[in-house]
Amino acid sequence: MAGILGTGIQDGLLLKPVHYQWAMDLYDQAVANTWFPNEIQLGQDLADWKKMTDEERHALEFLMSYFNPNELLVNKALAFGVYPYVNAAECHLYLAKQMWEEANHCMSFEYVLETFPIDRDKAYAAHVEVPSMAAKEAFETKYIKRMTEETLDITTTEGKKDFVKNLIAYNIILEGIWFYSGFMVALSFRQRNLLRNFGSLMDWIIRDESLHLKFGINLILTTLEENEDLQTPEFAEEIKQMILDAVEMEEQYNRDLLPKGILGLNADYVNQYVRYLTDRRLEELGFGAHYKVSNPAKWMAAANDTLELVNFFESTNTSYEVNATKDKK
Ligand SMILES: [Fe+2]
Ligand SMILES: [Fe+2]
Repeated sequence: MAGILGTGIQDGLLLKPVHYQWAMDLYDQAVANTWFPNEIQLGQDLADWKKMTDEERHALEFLMSYFNPNELLVNKALAFGVYPYVNAAECHLYLAKQMWEEANHCMSFEYVLETFPIDRDKAYAAHVEVPSMAAKEAFETKYIKRMTEETLDITTTEGKKDFVKNLIAYNIILEGIWFYSGFMVALSFRQRNLLRNFGSLMDWIIRDESLHLKFGINLILTTLEENEDLQTPEFAEEIKQMILDAVEMEEQYNRDLLPKGILGLNADYVNQYVRYLTDRRLEELGFGAHYKVSNPAKWMAAANDTLELVNFFESTNTSYEVNATKDKK
């Protein structure tokens, strides 16, 4: 076993013995969490849509415009930037399940677009036409594209750094900060007794995303641990700066999402949450907190700490378990 980084297509074809038990455990848990969008009756939220203000509808449309293409962008990051470079079969099992989950999330947002009177063409165009949204996408695609270049050699220090940077970009930043910022705004509707079924759909998506985060963080930490050449203060600083740059991009995006206040929140409120959340992500990676702000959305507490959330769902996910056979031999 050469470590978690890939050595070739012919390697990593046998599952047992499992070397990374955390990946196997996350796979089992992800399978137990399987759900389908049509289990939720979204149509019941249409009466709320009619009651909502233009600003509230704008926020929901903006979120759908962002989430929809970005679920698929995560899959590109996994397919081009992670799967080909990871050796352990148990990691491949998990990645295959995660990719289906991202597809399922995409279909969940399609369900939203079909149910509410949202102009799909306009929603689809936003990720190109809204500069703050396009900037976030360009940030991601830069790191994914690097992983597809012929000069990328995963056995070199530079290649390994590019691998970790793509993980930071799609997992810590996109899934762990940008998505959670959107989840908080999406769940704010339910906090005001609006879009309750949509809120349930978001709960299920967040439950998946908490496992995606846990997998990504484990993969990053394992890669760093196994590769001493990556353990330098300069590389640590580079990673931290990537994350801080991403926070600035998110702050601009949230000003476009919420040009005026809605539902008792405004861009400043969401951005404080982003800073709070970023500190948690930094800590999970072994950095100290940077912004040191309090959580303005305490009601999100159960959903924004990865470890807590995983434990939380271990005790409450029984009603959604599908065929959860756990063969640990
Ligand atoms: Fe997702
Ligand atoms: Fe995800």
